[in-house]
Amino acid sequence: MKHAPKEAWGSRLGIILAVMGSAIGLGNFLRFPGLAARYEGGAFMIPYFIAFLLLGLPIAWAEWAMGRRGGQAGFSSAPGIFRAIWPNRASPYLGVLGLLIPVIIYTYYVFIEAWCLYYAWQYLSGMLGLGNGLNLGRSPEAYTNFFLEFTGQKADGANFQRGPGPATIALTICFILNFIFIYRGLQKGIELVCKYAIPALFACALIVLLRVLTLGTPDPALPEQNVLAGLGFMWNPGTQTESLWESLSNARMWLEAAGQIFFSLSVGFGIIITYSSYLKKNEDVLLSGTTSASGNLFAEVALGGMITIPAAFVFLGVAGTQGSTFDLGFKTLPNVFAYMPLGQFFGFIWFSLLFLAAITSSLSMLQPAIAFFEEGLGVNRRASVTILGLITLMGSLFVVYFSRGLVALDTMDFWVGSFAIYMLATVEVILFGWVIGAREGLKEAENGSLIRLPGFMVFVIKYVAPLYLLIVFYFWVRQNLMDYVQLFRQDQVSALTLGLIGIFTLFFLLLIASAVRRWRKLEAQ
Ligand code: ALA
Repeated sequence: MKHAPKEAWGSRLGIILAVMGSAIGLGNFLRFPGLAARYEGGAFMIPYFIAFLLLGLPIAWAEWAMGRRGGQAGFSSAPGIFRAIWPNRASPYLGVLGLLIPVIIYTYYVFIEAWCLYYAWQYLSGMLGLGNGLNLGRSPEAYTNFFLEFTGQKADGANFQRGPGPATIALTICFILNFIFIYRGLQKGIELVCKYAIPALFACALIVLLRVLTLGTPDPALPEQNVLAGLGFMWNPGTQTESLWESLSNARMWLEAAGQIFFSLSVGFGIIITYSSYLKKNEDVLLSGTTSASGNLFAEVALGGMITIPAAFVFLGVAGTQGSTFDLGFKTLPNVFAYMPLGQFFGFIWFSLLFLAAITSSLSMLQPAIAFFEEGLGVNRRASVTILGLITLMGSLFVVYFSRGLVALDTMDFWVGSFAIYMLATVEVILFGWVIGAREGLKEAENGSLIRLPGFMVFVIKYVAPLYLLIVFYFWVRQNLMDYVQLFRQDQVSALTLGLIGIFTLFFLLLIASAVRRWRKLEAQ
């Protein structure tokens, strides 16, 4: 097509940091430790690494390569890129997932980002820390209660009672920040933010990690609760209650490991494909893809995994390590900081780290839709940012209003943050492995790339990854779907949320139809 992408990355390091920024997020520091603790670490790492090697990394390479190819044809959004790769009437509509997923995830992710910002501020100003302000002291109930109140989980509408609450104000700040950066464009927005945020994030993580690893045995009356035992709990494959083999025969662990890999790498989100569309024809994709994926893995396993669980373990024992994603980060760790010398400082660093990780990811979730509005509807940056601002604001207000028990947030996370991601990853691997053809696709990916892939990757992409996905998907639907169908029947908010996702889907499908007409006209000229 005649309109080449107008934007480009400033440097190779720029795009690597941007993809890493998208990948390293709350998934690394909250979701992963929660899962690893549930499956007692060592056993979980086996399906986790297998999913990384057979699914995450190959599909990430496929996204990088397809994005670069789509960019050469003048497209940066999934509908345009899929259409360029597979000239078929249906192909742009498959790309609806590449818009829906990042946009919907953004609407609830930015709310959690706001919690992190608020907690960081609370620690900095001494409100949540030791000795003054709220001074919640060492009481798990106090932190739980604070969290439930603050996030409005006790009733729908709680965040708006008596005017906008602190969570809503923090959300407004995060929204404004995200949209200012996205408005500034690729180089002056995303790339610039990631250039500073990623090193700062690693520095924060190292500070907290150092603190955790030097905790020793904080309570001499409980000698078994020491750092080494905490690390052992995290990493030894034979768990406390089951043999390794028993753990490995748990299908659910395999599913959750694969889901975590996708979520964490931002693979199957429609983000990498958009980011790599701004590359030049012969710019490297394979080494860049591998570097950003490895950076994410390091942040997840070596930093995320070594901070939360050992910290909770040494102060609160095994019981302290259990709980949902948010329990660990927002209830348990604040309680742990209350036991630590200089807890207020480390609390501040921890939540700043979470905030930085979150904002570099949420920013990346906005770019695919911005690219689509501009290339599909022919609007300028100001208009695309305004349209996206209004859409995401509607979604976020929905999540913030229906805050009881975080049902709306959980429902979105299930249907979009898990289900839809599997679907998009499947579409992508089939496009790359079968429509382009794995051999040709990898050969093209190697063009300009600084590394070569082993020959068996053709087999992995063509057969192993799709089959693996299909099996995982089948079991996952069987095990999880019914719970959510029940919830849908019992809880009106869950049904409403699904309705909202439906409306968003329809909206994007209509826009894609209009974009296709526009592209046809342009091509006919
Ligand atoms: N990849 C991002 C995360 O891990 C979405 O949070």
